[in-house]
Amino acid sequence: MTATGVAPGKVLLVGEHGVVHGGVAFALPFPAVEARAELRAEPGPLRLESPIWSGILDADTPPPAAGLAAAALATFALLDRPATGWVAHLEASIPLGAGLGSSAATAAALVRGILLAHGRVPGDEVDALVHLAEQAAHGTPSGVDGRVITVGQPIAFRRGETLDETQLVPTGAVFNLVVGYTGVTRRTQVAVARVTAFKDNEPVAAHAAMEAIKALAWEAIAAWRAGDAVAVGTCLDGAQAQLERLGVSTPELETLIRAARDAGALGAKLTGAGMGGCMLALARDATHADELVRALAGAATVWKQEYRP
Ligand code: MEV
Repeated sequence: MTATGVAPGKVLLVGEHGVVHGGVAFALPFPAVEARAELRAEPGPLRLESPIWSGILDADTPPPAAGLAAAALATFALLDRPATGWVAHLEASIPLGAGLGSSAATAAALVRGILLAHGRVPGDEVDALVHLAEQAAHGTPSGVDGRVITVGQPIAFRRGETLDETQLVPTGAVFNLVVGYTGVTRRTQVAVARVTAFKDNEPVAAHAAMEAIKALAWEAIAAWRAGDAVAVGTCLDGAQAQLERLGVSTPELETLIRAARDAGALGAKLTGAGMGGCMLALARDATHADELVRALAGAATVWKQEYRP
């Protein structure tokens, strides 16, 4: 008996860091990359096979997979079944630490795989189970990664809010995004701590940047609904300026952002926690997205993704 759980990556269009401090994050699933967990029935303790770590998933699983173990054990508890008799084989095309939601997506794929292996169709419960894994991986994340990855649609996310349909952001026109990876892994916890330190040391400047990010996130949500790509692009550029003020941008990110803007991107910014990781750019159309991909030849990896109404 086998079952396969799948989950996409994610990008934050606008609102990273603001969402940690009470703002809204406008988040999109990013199916150009994905995680897959194949569950195979096999006698013995629950085991994980993955490129980052392989071994038994239990309360003593060490840090690289401690979050996955927590989510897996909680899933078996929810099913009221003992956590034995399965091997989970995990694979992902999402680079680790690139800001594309690899930790949340691998946890979501694993939880879905376990549920499917027990004949249960995965639903809203996946979000909370993924959040357990995210807390182990990132400390106190806002929960945006797990939420957008499990919902699989663009969302306006605020910390602590339960999912309802007011969070869903319909796509008003075809949008073409291009994402470039600097090749530098970022650590969300380090970037979030840097912003918190900036808040403590320069409260006035930090407050202004944070408020601007929150306003830009709402503007981008309205523009996305209205199908106004030019206005979305302006929000992206505005958010990048604020993220630079917060100190989470890097020369590597800015080189790629400049290359995208020079090639006519409607807007470009870092995405995710920053301090490495990925940038994204909004293209005019599908042909222009191909041009942006070429312009980002200096990136470690480039992906494109179309969003349709
Ligand atoms: C991570 O994708 C985005 C941050 O806002 C952190 C979080 O929301 O937990 C930087």
